[in-house]
Amino acid sequence: MSSPRELAAALRGADPVAVLSGAGVSVGSDVPAFRGRDGLWDRFDPTEYATLSAFREDPAKVWAMLRELNRILDAAEPNGAHRALAELQRRGVVGTIVTQNVDGLHQAAADGPVDVVEIHGTRETLSCLSCGSTVGRERVVEEVEAGRVPRCRECDGLLKPDAVFFGEQLPPEAVRRAEVAARGCELLLIVGTSAEVYPVADLPRLAAGAGAELWEVNPSPAVASAQPVAGPAEEVLPAVVDHLDGD
Ligand code: OAD
Repeated sequence: MSSPRELAAALRGADPVAVLSGAGVSVGSDVPAFRGRDGLWDRFDPTEYATLSAFREDPAKVWAMLRELNRILDAAEPNGAHRALAELQRRGVVGTIVTQNVDGLHQAAADGPVDVVEIHGTRETLSCLSCGSTVGRERVVEEVEAGRVPRCRECDGLLKPDAVFFGEQLPPEAVRRAEVAARGCELLLIVGTSAEVYPVADLPRLAAGAGAELWEVNPSPAVASAQPVAGPAEEVLPAVVDHLDGD
């Protein structure tokens, strides 16, 4: 196991640094992860709740889960991990942050512009599964809260959040930017992901294949080829910033 101090030294020696984050980075903001103890997929079988076909077949059932999830995400605030990564990006220590999360907390932690790639899409917009037109989340909030299934005003088709469901393509521009970041970095910092879901789980291999060092912050490290710093991101990453300041 490596220490926050060793990670700080590695960050100092690498340029550019890219970050790959997952649900674990938001656990310290009381957002449940998907897998593991108290994971969302323990309560909601993803084949019943998170596939495109499940959504088409029973949108009311899937919206019941999304409503609950939206309430959790609406109440969530950035934690020390988001703030530390935003600070490292502000200082130029960290470049692109590729996140699988749709909670917007990396962006919320930053004062200024951010370089965040939302590779699993966004919950800020919804698109019609029939005609493709897109609306902002604010248009459907009331209907969703009232327990109704939001529909397209153009064609009455089903509106689905632009967060990626299983069985859907990832947003191509986000994939392109993520691959550029992975191939071009000297160090990839992997934070709070089980690295089980493809194609994102291939990004560490892509980075390592192009010569990058891999580091990981996770209480249960998941990427065998990465140098592990075991611990919650909301404790480890602020400690890394302190070492960059102090050592
Ligand atoms: P997972 O729930 O699969 O994994 C969360 C990871 O975070 C695990 O490795 C935990 O050990 C770790 N973890 C838990 N608490 C942590 C903490 N405080 N600090 C750091 N790490 C912690 O979440 P993801 O890997 O993000 O996709 O899941 C990937 C994708 O699977 C999601 O984007 C979502 C899901 O199905 C879709 O819905 C398409």
